[in-house]
Amino acid sequence: MIRKIVVINSKGGCGKTTLSTNLASYYASHGYPTALFDYDPQDSAARWLAQRPEHLAGIYGVAAAHSPEENITRSFQLRVPPGTQRLILDTPASLKRMELIEILRDAWAIIVPILPSTIDSCVTSDFIMQLDKEVRLHAPDASLAIVANRVRRNTRAFQTLMKFLEEKDLSPVACLRDSQNYVHASADGIGIHDMKATLTRVDREHWQDLIDWLEAEPLHSDVDPPDTEKQRSIA
Ligand SMILES: Nc1ncnc2c1ncn2[C@@H]1O[C@H](COP(=O)(O)OP(=O)(O)OP(=O)(O)O)[C@@H](O)[C@H]1O
Ligand SMILES: [Mg+2]
Repeated sequence: MIRKIVVINSKGGCGKTTLSTNLASYYASHGYPTALFDYDPQDSAARWLAQRPEHLAGIYGVAAAHSPEENITRSFQLRVPPGTQRLILDTPASLKRMELIEILRDAWAIIVPILPSTIDSCVTSDFIMQLDKEVRLHAPDASLAIVANRVRRNTRAFQTLMKFLEEKDLSPVACLRDSQNYVHASADGIGIHDMKATLTRVDREHWQDLIDWLEAEPLHSDVDPPDTEKQRSIA
């Protein structure tokens, strides 16, 4: 069964593309047939994919921000190869409502990256409130999680973020540190899981929290028992 994972936040530069590309590389390198849809007209994820070395596990890419070629329908453009198990969507900061609805449809998980800054916290909190309404309507089975990104643990900014999230009852499922590993990976079309384990040990530990949440059962059960109310959470 295909699991669609949407990475989204209206705040620019919070790490949507970084999370999307690293998620895609994680799943591909762990043997899951993986697709990556880039809904950003700036094509950041598509450019990353174009850089991907051929010897690494392949990822099927679609530049979904662009209209399909002539004589091709939108649904044909958005098809994935048979057997695809994980579909990751990178999204831009700004989306029209119809685009948002297309993105959310059949989503299995929604990840909102957030940076440790007061402005990012406030903007993201407002965004989550708006997003939650659309999720209830268009992806009622999806689970939503926050990931703190570019974290430096011993800083006031991080403490402030955690306090802010705690007050809103929004605890992050993972905290990814600020690391040049992400910058290097982004430039080379790879993810931190494609890099030397010795270099990325700490980052991999942080990622495991997110992967554990994503793959948790029974929150994300492939087979729902009949007449059972499906679980949905803001982690
Ligand atoms: N954990 C991290 N450590 C260090 N640098 C990071 C980290 N996460 C993201 N970055 C860097 O921050 C910048 C912004 O990240 P990214 O492009 O993923 O954000 P975005 O939300 O996709 O931005 P946009 O809204 O413009 O699409 C990039 O240069 C990226 O390499
Ligand atoms: Mg981006």
